[in-house]
Amino acid sequence: MLYENMPMITDREVNEALRFCAEQIIRNLPEFTYKFQNAYSENNFYKPIENNDWTTGFWTGEIWLAYEYCGDERLKRVGEIQIESFLHRIDEKIVVDHHDMGFLYSPSCVAGYKLIGSKAGREAAIKAADQLISRYHPVGEFIQAWGAMDAPENYRLIIDCLLNLPLLYWASEETGDNKYRNIAEKHIHTTIKNIIREDYSTWHTFFFDMKTGAPDHGATCQGYRDGSAWARGQAWGIYGSALAYKYTGRKEYMNIFKNVTGYFLEHLPKDMVPFWDLEFTDGDDQPRDSSSASIAACGMLEMIKYMEKEDAAIYKKYAMKLMKSLYDNYAVKDERVSNGLVLHSTYSNHSPYNTCHHCGVDECNSWGDYFYMEALTRLQKDWVLYW
Ligand code: GLY
Repeated sequence: MLYENMPMITDREVNEALRFCAEQIIRNLPEFTYKFQNAYSENNFYKPIENNDWTTGFWTGEIWLAYEYCGDERLKRVGEIQIESFLHRIDEKIVVDHHDMGFLYSPSCVAGYKLIGSKAGREAAIKAADQLISRYHPVGEFIQAWGAMDAPENYRLIIDCLLNLPLLYWASEETGDNKYRNIAEKHIHTTIKNIIREDYSTWHTFFFDMKTGAPDHGATCQGYRDGSAWARGQAWGIYGSALAYKYTGRKEYMNIFKNVTGYFLEHLPKDMVPFWDLEFTDGDDQPRDSSSASIAACGMLEMIKYMEKEDAAIYKKYAMKLMKSLYDNYAVKDERVSNGLVLHSTYSNHSPYNTCHHCGVDECNSWGDYFYMEALTRLQKDWVLYW
C-alpha cells in the first residue's frame, strides 16, 4: 500500500471537524442567506454574490450537511430560502446555459427534497434536469459543457460533467420517465471511452467532430498543459467513475475507478494533497488544490460500498489518510483566519499552455468546502447521497 506510514483521521477528529464546520456555517448565515458565497475566497474570505454562478449549490449543500450534523432549525430555514432562489433561477433561466445543473441542483434542491421533502426543491431539480438534457447531442452522444450548441469550438464534453449526471438518474426515478437516465448513460459511456488516456491519466475536455460525432481530440482548459493531468479533473474522474458504477452497474467501471485512482495516488506529494496539476510535486513552487483531495476521498468512500472486503478496506484507508492530512494541515480551525472551511485550493491557475481565466489560486473554494464536509459526513455515518 502507498503512504503506509501516513496516519488516518480518527472518529474524534471527524466529529471535531464537523462540529467546527457546522459552527462556521451558522456564523456565516446572516451574510449568506439571500446571497451565496463566491466560488472562491479572497485572502481566505468569501464575498457574497447573487445566485448566478455554477458554484452556488455547494454553499446550500454545506448548509444541508450542517443541518444533518446538528439539526439546528436556522439551517433548515435558510436552506428553504435558498431553494426558492434556485427555483426562481431555473424558472427565469438565469445563467443556466451550461451543463452544471447537477452541481447546482443536487446538493441544494435534491438534498432539500430528500431531507425535508421540499416540494419546491423537487420542482426546481426536475426543471434543471430538463435544462441539462437540452444540451445533449445525439450525434456524438454527449452533453455539451459550455457555450452555444452550434459552435464547433465548444463541441466538447468535460470530465467534470460526470458529477452532473446523478441529477438525471434522480429525475428518472422521480418522474418515471427514462429519457433522463438514457441520456446520462450515453454520456457516461462516451466520456469514459474517450477522456481516459492509456496510462489512466485524464483529459480535462474532449472534442468531437460536429458532423459525424467521431472523437476528435483532447485538450485542457484548467490543467497546466494538454498532456498533463489536471488534479481536479483526475479527482472528478475518481468520483465520477464511482458514481458511474453506482448508477449503471457496469462492471468495467470498477477497473476504471481503480486505475484512475491509482494514477492520482501515485502522483501525490508526501502529504497526499495534490498540487493543482499532477505534473507538479514536492519541491515545485506551485499552488495546491486541496479540493481535489476531498473530491477523491468522497469517490473512494462511495466506491467501497460496491467492492470486495479487502479492496474496500484499502480504499477506506486511503480516504482516511487524505482526510487526516486535510484536517491537520489545510482545514480552517479559527474563524479569524477565514470564513471558509478549507484553505489552499486552486480554482483556475493560468499557465502559458492553458485557456482558463486566472482566479481563486491558493484560496478556499466552495466545492472544496462542500466535499470536505461530505467526506467527513460519509465517515461519520451511513450517508444518503445528494448525488
Ligand atoms: N467544474 C469546474 C472546476 O472544477 O473548476
